[in-house]
Amino acid sequence: MDRPTPGSPTAVSPVPIALVTGGAKRVGRAIVLELARAGHDIAIHHRSSPGEAETLAAEVLALGRRAAVFRADLTVAAEVAALFHAVDEAFGRLDVLVNCAAVFRRTPVQTLTEADFDFHVGANLKAPYLCCLEAAPRMQAAGCGRIVNITDVAAERPFKSHVPYCVSKAGLVMLTRSLAKALAPAITVNAVSPGTVLFRDDESQEDRRRVIARIPQGRIGTPEDIARTVRFLVESPHVTGVILAVDGGRSLD
Ligand SMILES: NC(=O)c1ccc[n+]([C@@H]2O[C@H](COP(=O)([O-])OP(=O)(O)OC[C@H]3O[C@@H](n4cnc5c(N)ncnc54)[C@H](OP(=O)(O)O)[C@@H]3O)[C@@H](O)[C@H]2O)c1
Repeated sequence: MDRPTPGSPTAVSPVPIALVTGGAKRVGRAIVLELARAGHDIAIHHRSSPGEAETLAAEVLALGRRAAVFRADLTVAAEVAALFHAVDEAFGRLDVLVNCAAVFRRTPVQTLTEADFDFHVGANLKAPYLCCLEAAPRMQAAGCGRIVNITDVAAERPFKSHVPYCVSKAGLVMLTRSLAKALAPAITVNAVSPGTVLFRDDESQEDRRRVIARIPQGRIGTPEDIARTVRFLVESPHVTGVILAVDGGRSLD
């Protein structure tokens, strides 16, 4: 477990604390910055991006908020427990959990393996499940909390070459809705469902054109589109169990 960034907290804080998993890069990074701008101190989780996480922590500090960096493989229950314990030690409370960490790998149906299933379901469903189990009692004890999961339009509109990924995100949708019921009224549990936000480096120009052609708004999303919606859900105490599409209309088909 990494140590808190210099200048970061050592005692109970009156400022709300948000933990963002997979927060060092890409979409998670935008969520960290948006929640910091919204007045949260931030626990930035990463698995293998310590440099990016520390750079981001410095940006949060420059915004006038506190930040600390934590490492964990979220598919391992003991590491998840240690992560939340370390956040307790650093900040003394937890108000917001954003489950953003995930994996996404092309898995053609002809070559599907047990490992493909475990890889996607482990990171995209078991990991947020374990994080929710850790966060819930802390939030219940405080009488209030917000959990936001990041799903995908693929949870309801399958991609034929990504079966385990789609299954994992569909499970995350039901985790969101069932926990919203189980953890009410103290804790709200919602999800943001992005369409394509960032292209992978290996996606061809032709593939990119095909993706954009299917989006009514004519563009893919940005990490900031997702981050603003996470903030909306964090700031909306009477919204729970909602899966909010942020996809330029892609899921209307
Ligand atoms: N990008 C898109 O177009 C898109 C579209 C739809 C939905 N989404 C969803 O939006 C969220 C963010 O997307 P993204 O593209 O920014 O995500 P990403 O880059 O694919 O992954 C985010 C982070 O997850 C962390 N991670 C993966 N496996 C982990 C594990 N076992 N334990 C701990 N951390 C792990 C990695 O952290 P380290 O780098 O530190 O290893 C990674 O940087 C994800 O939930 C994704 O499924 C994205």
